[in-house]
Amino acid sequence: MNQMHNPPQVASLRSRIVGIDQQVPVLGGGWRPYVNLDNAASTPVLREVLDTVNRFMDWYSSVHRGAGFKSQVATAAYEEARGIVADFVGANRDEHVVIFGKNATEAINKVSWRLNLAPDDVVLVSQMEHHSNDLPWRARARVEHIGVDDSGALEEAQFDSLLRQHAGRVRLVAVTGASNVTGYLPDIHAIARRVHAAGAQILVDCAQLAPHRRIDMRGLDDPEHLDYVTLSAHKMYAPFGTGALIGRRDTFEQGEPEHRGGGTIDFVGLDSVSWAPAPDRDEAGTPNVVGAVALAAAIKALSDIGMDHIAAHEADLRGYALERLARIGGLRLYGTGDAPDGSRHLGVIPFTLATQPHGLVAAALSAEYGIGVRNGCFCAHPYLIRLLGLSQAEVAKLRAAMAGGDRRAVPGLVRISFGMHNSTGDIDQLATALERIAAGRLATTYRQDRDSGDYIAEGLPMDPDDAFSISRRGLSPTAGPAPGVRG
Ligand SMILES: Cc1ncc(COP(=O)(O)O)c(C=O)c1O
Repeated sequence: MNQMHNPPQVASLRSRIVGIDQQVPVLGGGWRPYVNLDNAASTPVLREVLDTVNRFMDWYSSVHRGAGFKSQVATAAYEEARGIVADFVGANRDEHVVIFGKNATEAINKVSWRLNLAPDDVVLVSQMEHHSNDLPWRARARVEHIGVDDSGALEEAQFDSLLRQHAGRVRLVAVTGASNVTGYLPDIHAIARRVHAAGAQILVDCAQLAPHRRIDMRGLDDPEHLDYVTLSAHKMYAPFGTGALIGRRDTFEQGEPEHRGGGTIDFVGLDSVSWAPAPDRDEAGTPNVVGAVALAAAIKALSDIGMDHIAAHEADLRGYALERLARIGGLRLYGTGDAPDGSRHLGVIPFTLATQPHGLVAAALSAEYGIGVRNGCFCAHPYLIRLLGLSQAEVAKLRAAMAGGDRRAVPGLVRISFGMHNSTGDIDQLATALERIAAGRLATTYRQDRDSGDYIAEGLPMDPDDAFSISRRGLSPTAGPAPGVRG
């Protein structure tokens, strides 16, 4: 293992990850420690998060409703979590509110509702957005897409021209803090400056960015401030069903919430409603206090470890992976740009192999090597079409096939994405596996399912349904192989 790429502080992080030693079955009957290279989808849970949740469970009770001591403790923990989230993104409580919800998608939908957009209001959305930061806007306003160049940067001239063309009608620019496809880091503060100069607001979807880099919303008097930021706890080592929206207080102190009911009101008469102040107005129903506590515990842990440490380690991993992947014949990278130091990218690397379809590569990595990656279009179809250079005719043909229930030709990429727990050893295992897969050295045959497009390995030693069951203890070894099998 290369020390340069594994500073001791970060290597020790592995022990803080729940399930880091979990073994998974591979073809041939053995078990291997799972190599998680799919952190952009969801990260594993941090030990500190689980410990804090367990500690909190003794105090768990209803939030904002009960007079009992435990309710008061739970309410205080929930409000403490709000403060921790605000500090994490550089928000100040006079100008911003923290609203908890179930995930980043819900948070973005909430802003799209609460901005009270008219159908001819314009929202500019970058072409690299996750569907969760595109479709909500399409439902409520006129969306214009800002193109991105090969490296992932916004097409500056087109952006300016859209701002000019729709001057006075652009209400918001929605852009990701980091692409979930390529890891590209747009210069969000420079974009914010242009957005504000045009009299609009900016929403930055930080679902990907938050576990990897510092976020600083800045005060509203700073021309480069961020008006709305969204977080996703399951990508931040705290998968307990929470997301957070941090946004301008003036937006949420007025208007009506999209979800109405308990918790959102000050007073209800038979024919009148007085809405509660922010943020309660926007948190309908009983809140997920456990999720909020978990998210705050994750933030504390990330901050203790140091976001700069995490960023440096993951940049090293990315550099190392690019070096290793470059040696694999027929491997093509997408959107990696020309900053190998990682200053413009997270550790997210999409690629294809010339010799094997993306679905088969992902299936073989799992079935033969116990390596988890994601393949496909990553909920960013417009960006994938752009990256893959698909023509309109190709897209039309594909949609026709999909409409007929045949997903076998769905194009896509294979994506690896690092968390702070990954090591160069993980990358070495991946590279060795990819060399073999690229050379056609597969341990079994793979059947492609027509409906899903997925590849299924023949002879898998264990069905995933048998590894874990709520109602019975399964066969799965948790932290070591079953007797007599190799590690
Ligand atoms: C960039 C980006 N935005 C938004 C989302 C949606 O996040 P959530 O699952 O919290 O709704 C994702 C999830 O993959 C994402 O990668």
